[in-house]
Amino acid sequence: MGAKLLCLCLTSALVAYYIYTPVHEDFEEPWKVMLISAGFRAVGHLVSLTEIPGSIILISSLMLITAVEYVAPMSDENVTVTDTEFSNVAVRLYLPRKPSDGLRRAVVYFHGGGWCVGQAGMKSYDHLSRWTSNMLNAVVVSVNYRLAPKYHFPVQFEDVYSVTKFFLQSSVLSQYGVDPDRVCVAGDSAGGNLAAAVAQQLLQDAEVETKLKAQALLYPALQTLDLNLPSYRENENKPILSRLLMVRFWSEYFTSDSSLREAMASNSYVPVESSHLFQFVNWSNLLPEEVKKDHIYTSPTYGSSELAQKYPGFLDPRAAPLLASDAQLRGLPLTYILTCEHDVLRDDGVMYATRLRAAGVPVTHDNAKDAFHGVMMFASGPVELAIGHRLLNRYIEWLNENL
Ligand SMILES: *[C@@H]1O[C@H](CO)[C@@H](O)[C@H](O)[C@H]1NC(C)=O
Ligand SMILES: *[C@@H]1O[C@H](CO)[C@@H](O)[C@H](O)[C@H]1NC(C)=O
Repeated sequence: MGAKLLCLCLTSALVAYYIYTPVHEDFEEPWKVMLISAGFRAVGHLVSLTEIPGSIILISSLMLITAVEYVAPMSDENVTVTDTEFSNVAVRLYLPRKPSDGLRRAVVYFHGGGWCVGQAGMKSYDHLSRWTSNMLNAVVVSVNYRLAPKYHFPVQFEDVYSVTKFFLQSSVLSQYGVDPDRVCVAGDSAGGNLAAAVAQQLLQDAEVETKLKAQALLYPALQTLDLNLPSYRENENKPILSRLLMVRFWSEYFTSDSSLREAMASNSYVPVESSHLFQFVNWSNLLPEEVKKDHIYTSPTYGSSELAQKYPGFLDPRAAPLLASDAQLRGLPLTYILTCEHDVLRDDGVMYATRLRAAGVPVTHDNAKDAFHGVMMFASGPVELAIGHRLLNRYIEWLNENL
C-alpha cells in the first residue's frame, strides 16, 4: 500500500510536469496517450540525467512499475492459473477449464520489458495470457526468464529456450492435452525478440522433434547493428520507448559497462571484420519505398573490435535474429508480425517481414498506423486505449485462424 501511494504521488507530480506535451495527430484518445507518454518520458528523462553504472535509477523505477502492477496467480471460472517451474525456470501456466473435443492448442509467451524488467504476473500480461487461453481454449505458458542487469545474454535466451524445449517434449504435451501440431511461440518487444530467436534455434536443434506451427512477434526488437534506421530517426522521442531507452536496454542485455552503451548511442560499435552482417539490416534494400520516404542511406561507420571481443552477444543471431543468414530463415513457421508506425522498432519488424518472405516463409504483417510501442499493454487498466483492444483482438484472431 505504501509503495502504491508513493508511486501515485510520484506519478502525479511527474504527470503535472510533463502533461503539456503535444502528441502526434495520428493518435486517437490524445489525452490518454499524453498521460501514458508523460509517465514514460519521466523515466526517459531520469535515464538521460543519470550516468550511474548499472542503470540503477532506470531499472529501479521500472521495477517499481512492475511491482505495483503485479498480481498473484488467480484462477477464474474459465482458466486455472498456477505459478510453477519448467526445466528450473519460473513460468505462469494457464489451463482452460472448458471441456475440449480434442487436443488443445498452446502458446508459449515471452513478456516484454527490454530484457531488464517485466513479469508474467504484471496485470497487463496476466490479462493477455488469460484472454488468449480463454478465447482460443489454449494452454498458455508465460515465462519468467531471468533479467538484466543481474543476468546478461545469453541467460534470458537460454531460459526461454529451455522452457520451450521442455514443453515440446511429447510426454509434456500429452500431460497437458496439447496437440503437437498446434504449438506457437509469441512475445512482445524484447519478448518478440526472444520468440524469433527461439524459433530460429529450434530449426537447428536435432534433439527437438516437434515443430512449431507459428510464431507471433509483436513490435519485436530484432537487430543491434543499426540504431539509426528511419524508424529510430522519426520516433526518437515517441511514447513509450525513446531511442535512448532502447539503446539502454540493448546495451544492458549484454553488459552494464557504459562504454557499450555510449558506442551504441553513437551507432559506431560494429567492427569492420563484421561488415558482412550489414547486408542483413541494409534498410536501403529491405524497406519498401513508403517506409524509406526521403531518408538518406549512409554506409555504416565502424567501431573498435575490442567491444565485439568483450561482448560478442550483440553480433549473435540469438540476440539479434535479423543477423541470421537467409539459409537459417528457410523453414521458419507461419509468422505474424505487428509493427507500430510511431515506434523506434518499427523497421526491425518491417525488415524481418521482407527477409522472411524472401526466404519463402508465409508472413502476415500488420503495421498499425495510429499506434506507438507497447500499445497492447493498454488493452487493460488502469489506462485503457481503444487501439490496444483492437490490436489485441487482431492478434487473437490471427492465432485463431492460423494456430
Ligand atoms: C469467462 O468466459 C466467458 C465467455 O467467454 C466470458 O464472458 C467471461 O467474462 C469469462 N470470465 C472471466 C472471469 O474472464
Ligand atoms: C546497402 O544497399 C545499397 C543499395 O543496394 C548498397 O549501395 C550498399 O552498398 C549496401 N550497404 C551495405 C553495407 O551492404
